[in-house]
Amino acid sequence: MRGLICYCSNTGNTELTSRYIDKNISNAQFDFYNISEGGYFNLDEYDIIGFGTYTHWWGMPEVFESFINSLNKQENKNAFIFNTYSHFSGNTQKCMYTKLREKGFKIIAAHSLRVPTSYPPKRARKKKKIKDSPNFKEFWKFNCFINKLDGYIDRISKERSVDEVKIRTNVIGFLLSKYIKPKMKDITGKKYVDAKLCTQCGECGRVCTYGAVVFKKDKVTFNKSKCRNCWACFNNCPQQAIYTENVKGAAQYRGPCKQLAMKLK
Ligand SMILES: Cc1cc2nc3c(=O)[nH]c(=O)nc-3n(C[C@H](O)[C@H](O)[C@H](O)COP(=O)(O)O)c2cc1C
Repeated sequence: MRGLICYCSNTGNTELTSRYIDKNISNAQFDFYNISEGGYFNLDEYDIIGFGTYTHWWGMPEVFESFINSLNKQENKNAFIFNTYSHFSGNTQKCMYTKLREKGFKIIAAHSLRVPTSYPPKRARKKKKIKDSPNFKEFWKFNCFINKLDGYIDRISKERSVDEVKIRTNVIGFLLSKYIKPKMKDITGKKYVDAKLCTQCGECGRVCTYGAVVFKKDKVTFNKSKCRNCWACFNNCPQQAIYTENVKGAAQYRGPCKQLAMKLK
């Protein structure tokens, strides 16, 4: 069986998760599509599609939603979904499920994996146990999800039927993403660039999936109306030159921490 995993990852956790799923599935071999980088792919070439994203305010990031909207209508193509989150996954799974079903995918498995947070204000507060997640039980559940998925893929390859999963709406997550998410934009505040640190390497522009980073002469600025406050520019700046009034330098998250990389190796 041939599979494709389409993922959206700002700071590498979801990418690591995607690769870990591939390594531990024996009944299919997966190609990867990083939706932030774009490129060509043909869904018809694949028997099963995985969709993975990070959680952005209790739901999907906008760029992931646009990606799903851009897909062609399918006829019950088998798919599975997963998301990484750090404190409360909210309604992310249900949003993914609903959107992908509208596009004609049949969702046979779903999972949310807790990982260390990439949200800088939270990291700045140095909450305890940030690096511990997923804990033993959460990691075990994630491996159970992969084993089950492997079994389903085996069934599909033998042309036996697999039931669709059922995902309930998380009412609190739904309310938060509907009413609080739009307000989170202002929480970040204005972003600044330390001209002494910035080397104009362009990394912030490369990782910004919303085209909000503007290079003007020898200055980096941000287009406020395009910015979705995903903190990708802040987290990925090699010089730690980007900062806000409340968060500077120390809370940066340049890719998954060692503990997570060890678990998902
Ligand atoms: C702006 C922003 C919003 C986030 N919102 C949530 C959230 O609502 N719930 C949650 O549990 N984690 C949230 N997170 C944490 C990320 O989903 C989590 O760290 C994820 O693993 C990052 O994945 P990535 O490394 O693939 O980008 C948020 C992170 C950022 C930067």
